[in-house]
Amino acid sequence: MIEIRRMTVEDIPAVVEIDRSSFTLPWTERSFKYEVTENSASRCWVTTVDRQLASMLVLWVIVDEAHIATIATHPKFRRRGFAKKMLVKSLVSAREEGAKKALLEVRARHVIAQKIYCDIGFIEVGRRPMYYRDNGEDAVLMTMENLEGLKFAEVE
Ligand SMILES: CC(C)(COP(=O)(O)OP(=O)(O)OC[C@H]1O[C@@H](n2cnc3c(N)ncnc32)[C@H](O)[C@@H]1OP(=O)(O)O)[C@@H](O)C(=O)NCCC(=O)NCCS
Repeated sequence: MIEIRRMTVEDIPAVVEIDRSSFTLPWTERSFKYEVTENSASRCWVTTVDRQLASMLVLWVIVDEAHIATIATHPKFRRRGFAKKMLVKSLVSAREEGAKKALLEVRARHVIAQKIYCDIGFIEVGRRPMYYRDNGEDAVLMTMENLEGLKFAEVE
C-alpha cells in the first residue's frame, strides 16, 4: 500500500538514509528532528510503500510562500511517481493553509528534478552563482507565482 503522510520522529532514521543516498551535502539527523519537532514553519512529508519509507520532502510555509527545502526518493524506489505526487500533495496542503506562491532552489545539474518542477508549473526565474559549497555549482531558482496554477492538482 502506498501512503503519503506527514513525517514523524520515528521516520527520521530512514529519512536520513534516503538523504544520504541522494545528496552530496546531506542534512544531519538533528536538523530533520528540528524540522519535525520545533520549526513551526516546517511541513515534513514522506511516501511509504508497505510502511517502508520511499520518499521524503521538507517544505517551509513562510507567510504566503511555500519553499521546498528538500526532496528525495530512495534510489530503489525512484521512477515510480512518488516525488511528483508527494510534491503536489504538499503544495496543495500549503495552498489550503494560505500559501499563494512557491519557490525552490535546485542544483543546475539536477535536470531530472527541474523537469519534475516544470511539469507541475514551476518556471526558472534566475540563478544563484556558486551557491553550493561542496562543488561551487550554481543554484537554479524556480518559482510558481500562483499556486492556483498548480498542475496535477487532482493527484491524491
Ligand atoms: C529527483 C528525485 C527526487 C525524483 O524522484 P522520483 O520519485 O524518482 O521521481 P518521479 O518518479 O516522481 O518522477 C517524475 C518524473 O520525473 C522524470 N524522471 C524521474 N527520474 C528520471 C530519470 N532517472 N530520468 C529521466 N527522467 C526522470 C520523469 O519525467 C518522471 O515521470 P515518468 O516516470 O512518468 O516519465 C530523485 O531522482 C532523487 O531523489 N534524486 C536525488 C536528489 C535530488 O536531486 N533531489 C532534488 C533536488 S532539489
